[in-house]
Amino acid sequence: EKASERESMYLVSEFAQKNFQNNLKTTEPGKAIGGTYFKERGFTRETIDKFKLGYSLDEWDAFTKEALGKGYQLEFLEKTGLTIIKKKEGTTEKRMFDRFKGRVMFPIHSMSGRVLGFGGRILTNDKKAAKYLNSPESDIYHKSKVLYGIYHAKQAIAKQDNCYLVEGYTDVIQFHQSGIENVVASSGTALTSEQIRLINRLTKNITVLFDGDAAGLRASLRGIDLILEQGMNVKVCTFPEGQDPDSFARAHTDSELKEFLDQNATDFIRFKASLLVKDAKNDPIKKADTIREIVNSIYKIPDRIQREVYVQECSRIMDISEDVLYNTLAQLGNKEV
Ligand code: CTP
Ligand code: MN
Ligand code: MN
Ligand code: MN
Ligand code: MN
Repeated sequence: EKASERESMYLVSEFAQKNFQNNLKTTEPGKAIGGTYFKERGFTRETIDKFKLGYSLDEWDAFTKEALGKGYQLEFLEKTGLTIIKKKEGTTEKRMFDRFKGRVMFPIHSMSGRVLGFGGRILTNDKKAAKYLNSPESDIYHKSKVLYGIYHAKQAIAKQDNCYLVEGYTDVIQFHQSGIENVVASSGTALTSEQIRLINRLTKNITVLFDGDAAGLRASLRGIDLILEQGMNVKVCTFPEGQDPDSFARAHTDSELKEFLDQNATDFIRFKASLLVKDAKNDPIKKADTIREIVNSIYKIPDRIQREVYVQECSRIMDISEDVLYNTLAQLGNKEV
């Protein structure tokens, strides 16, 4: 019952992916609007094919009607969020709307390559409209368990024994085009343990790349404790102000990008300790908070020897005695390995 419903949802999602792809390649508005958009972003034809990018026509229900005409059921169009059904005000009449009307489309694939959902981007930089619309949670799309790009990255992650974690769809795609394929995106949501577990099966090493917009940096650092908890090695790298992995990759050669990543990827605990020192400056109350902050992260590391190495290092970076750090660690509870 449930399984066959899910199968129907997979099938309609696959149909949608092919429909959006076909719009992009063969329809006039698709070529003119969607094609031009991707071209201006520097995506090649190969890249567009590889990630099965598409375009959703700028019409109220063109996609829904086409799907219904092909025998796909409204129930599953609605459950996957591809179609929105609204009651016409003051009547019992229902109307159908294509959720992704007039957007360029990024299909989201599972580890095994099935289409689970979509991200759809508006073509303008209109700050009032949501830049990306995403498929809603459904029986086949659980945002917290999916990483964008995992299907296209899994082999490279295992081979390189490292995974780059970026924020957005276009960061993943532009990296591929720059020759870096071991990359996935959390797609704007806070990182979850389930997402990290997907990577953990392939490598113990993660390098988290942050957009150079500072806004989310300090908040995002908390999520990284979840990676430490799984005993993984974490590096972080921030991009220059106003740049993200996509824009940086576009503005530099492949070897410049690789060199930037190699030179700027910093061990996470070291990075966080340095950042906290800057934050606290000479404020003693803040300094006490920062000690708790860094110790919280160190506490998440399962390996005792590794924890000790970090206590020594943070003691140096933050100019705090090792004893204070060990005592704070002990207050969190005993953790012997
Ligand atoms: N995101 C979202 N909804 C938004 C804004 C962002 O779902 N309104 C998600 C998208 O997955 C996006 C990611 O968060 O890719 C990162 O956001 P941001 O850095 O703002 O977007 P970019 O990926 O850089 O997108 P672009 O380059 O197209 O502007
Ligand atoms: Mn951002
Ligand atoms: Mn970005
Ligand atoms: Mn961007
Ligand atoms: Mn390049």
